[in-house]
Amino acid sequence: MKQTKKEVISAIIAAAKELLRKNRRTVAGHTFTIPSPYEYRHQWLWDSCFHSIVLRHFDTAAAEAEIKSLVASQCKNGMIPHESKFNILGKMLPITSRITQPAFIARAALEVYEKSRNKQFLANIFPRLQQYHNWLEKQREVNGVLKVVDCNESGEDNSLPWDDEYAVPVHKTYLRWFPTYVPFFPQLAALRSVTATSVYADALECMSEIARVLGEGRLRSGYGSKRKAVIAAMAKVFRQEDGLYYSLTHSNKPIRYKTHSIFSPLFAAAMTKAEAKKLVNEHLLNEKEFWTSFLIPTVAANEPKFNPKGYWRGPTWVNINWMLHRGLLRYGFRAVADELLQKTIAVIRKSGFREYYNPLTGDGLGARQFGWSTLIADMILEK
Ligand code: GLC
Repeated sequence: MKQTKKEVISAIIAAAKELLRKNRRTVAGHTFTIPSPYEYRHQWLWDSCFHSIVLRHFDTAAAEAEIKSLVASQCKNGMIPHESKFNILGKMLPITSRITQPAFIARAALEVYEKSRNKQFLANIFPRLQQYHNWLEKQREVNGVLKVVDCNESGEDNSLPWDDEYAVPVHKTYLRWFPTYVPFFPQLAALRSVTATSVYADALECMSEIARVLGEGRLRSGYGSKRKAVIAAMAKVFRQEDGLYYSLTHSNKPIRYKTHSIFSPLFAAAMTKAEAKKLVNEHLLNEKEFWTSFLIPTVAANEPKFNPKGYWRGPTWVNINWMLHRGLLRYGFRAVADELLQKTIAVIRKSGFREYYNPLTGDGLGARQFGWSTLIADMILEK
């Protein structure tokens, strides 16, 4: 029997809830959700932020635990590592990640608070977030935008810009794990990233809002001005003559591939309305580029390097769709946002919660039972 639209939606939400429950672990007193029971069995930074953004709809205590566990692995210098090894092996081997991941924590903490209204949670987490943001400013800002020192730090480890950033394609080999984990191994990259900076600008807005909730007026305006400065720097550093924002290599050369990251400034409300309109009409709604059968590919379909099955080199990822959906709603592109949502529902109905999907066929690829693909539930519930 054919399901009604309402039944489809309820089934997806129920399945998302169940998946996150099944992937939840408690290790050494920390409770968090692993990205996938087969491939990724630790806590990962941006994954956990996405998990808590979904969890807040079902179980605010679990959403708070996820973030508390994340900040529990904060280093003395303020960095929050991209992967926390709360497991037996991690305890036995003194191997710790030396890098972070896109700075979604303030966004996740704020959104969890907005559901729970638990000010104490926010007050406890805020000093940790401040330390993290101080570290980002000191260690990762260059000319007002963020650099990413390692492909694993970008979260988009195999994305096209890394082809130009590394002299040799280390991102495609196991070599890439050396700078990530081996102490004192030189960091090989300093890519000025549009995605990382967009997430950072958004996080600064959240920091300002958290400070407001906590009655910290001075910090509120400090983070607010900082956000404005980052947005202004984005236009100056990233915007090229075609109006698009491209990441830059360590030597400030624009990397002109059309990837999903051209849309990330929408998430941070970093573009003018006119720029956003042009971007959506000419590139997002363009069937030759991003408006493929199963949206959106991580590389424009007409880029010579587009590979519908290549890791971060073409496939559709739900977290990218989620960011874009938020961005479209911020700019009032409601009908386009809704179409994106319907197409994301279609791909999940076809292939379940997979790590990524072929944008031409909708076939599932990579890890199974993958946590952040449940962001579809947030897209449905927040629209
Ligand atoms: C892969 C992804 C990274 C993610 C991790 C765990 O390494 O590229 O972004 O955080 O898996 O899901």
